[in-house]
Amino acid sequence: MDTNQDKKKVVLSGIRATGNLHLGNYYGALNKFVRMQDDYDCRFFIADLHALTTHPDPAMLHANVKSILAEYLAAGLDPEKNILYVQSDVPEISEMYLLMNMHAGIGELMRTASFKDKARKALGIAKPGAGADDDDIEKEIIGNNHNKSVNAGLLTYPTLMAVDILIHHADFVPVGKDQEQHLELTRRFGRRFNSFYKTDYFSEPVNFNFGGQAVKVPGLDGSGKMGKSEGNCIYLIDDEKTLRKKVMRAVTDQGPQEPNSTPTEPIQNLFTLMELVSDPSTLEHFKQAYADCSIRYGDLKKQLAEDILKVTLPIRERILDLRDNDEYLSKVVRRGAEQAREVAAKTLREVREIMGIRKF
Ligand code: TRP
Repeated sequence: MDTNQDKKKVVLSGIRATGNLHLGNYYGALNKFVRMQDDYDCRFFIADLHALTTHPDPAMLHANVKSILAEYLAAGLDPEKNILYVQSDVPEISEMYLLMNMHAGIGELMRTASFKDKARKALGIAKPGAGADDDDIEKEIIGNNHNKSVNAGLLTYPTLMAVDILIHHADFVPVGKDQEQHLELTRRFGRRFNSFYKTDYFSEPVNFNFGGQAVKVPGLDGSGKMGKSEGNCIYLIDDEKTLRKKVMRAVTDQGPQEPNSTPTEPIQNLFTLMELVSDPSTLEHFKQAYADCSIRYGDLKKQLAEDILKVTLPIRERILDLRDNDEYLSKVVRRGAEQAREVAAKTLREVREIMGIRKF
């Protein structure tokens, strides 16, 4: 690390350890991390404690942490430039999470969108508008104490995320749009802590998008974004055959019905993907073909698959190499844990002291 480190703004972000990384993670997060590593004091971690909120199989969780680490490195994150660590390797986070929970309101946590989504799914309640409203979630959770799937860890997910961020005194937190509300809660918890203990200890972290809009990577199923739970993903680890097959099967429409029509959602999604991976002239070519109704979706998909492969295949090669290199991977995380713990221990010490927990 260079000697300017102290002056650089602190960047912190994490990815939940729930499966292999896909193109959405790559363009939404990883790629941004890679671009930030030279100019900021970056810390990136694998959120394995957060993954526990949805009860993963223990063996799967372990495998996922390892493959995400390999994927981080394969995508270009350099352990010499960043602190790379696994959340559970830093026990200070868990302790500060306990302390921070004393200032997190059950009501505000229950109103968080991500909690309501997960609770709704676990309880089998329809989305608001589809016959259910928010009160139903509350009634169901309180009335149905057999339902252990809506656990307290899920409720306090935002507290843990706030601690991830505040323990580093992060300035910037590059995350997708779906995480904005968690970031807002982080700022709120920090402000609340400051005003309760009459201090200015925490400052307010903000999202980071390189001045542009947050990228939303669409899936291959015609609508919505690419997501693990949607089953519409292209994974960085996909082999050539699998990837081509997925792209060739992407949902399209019956073709433009008249010249210069606005592309339907499935086609716009393919254009959006193309915008990420292809040459601007390639995209222009297919948009033009759409406008004059000469487009052949088979050609569009073939080209798209080709251009995605150019991005993912080299990463895939590196992932496969790294995955076999246990010694290197454990060296990276051990060093990362040491560096992260040094930062975290200082914050925890100070927070304990501010809260009145002192050593005799
Ligand atoms: N909640 C984030 C997600 O699901 C992952 C995460 C956990 C995170 N802690 C964080 C992201 C702290 C940024 C900062 O994507």
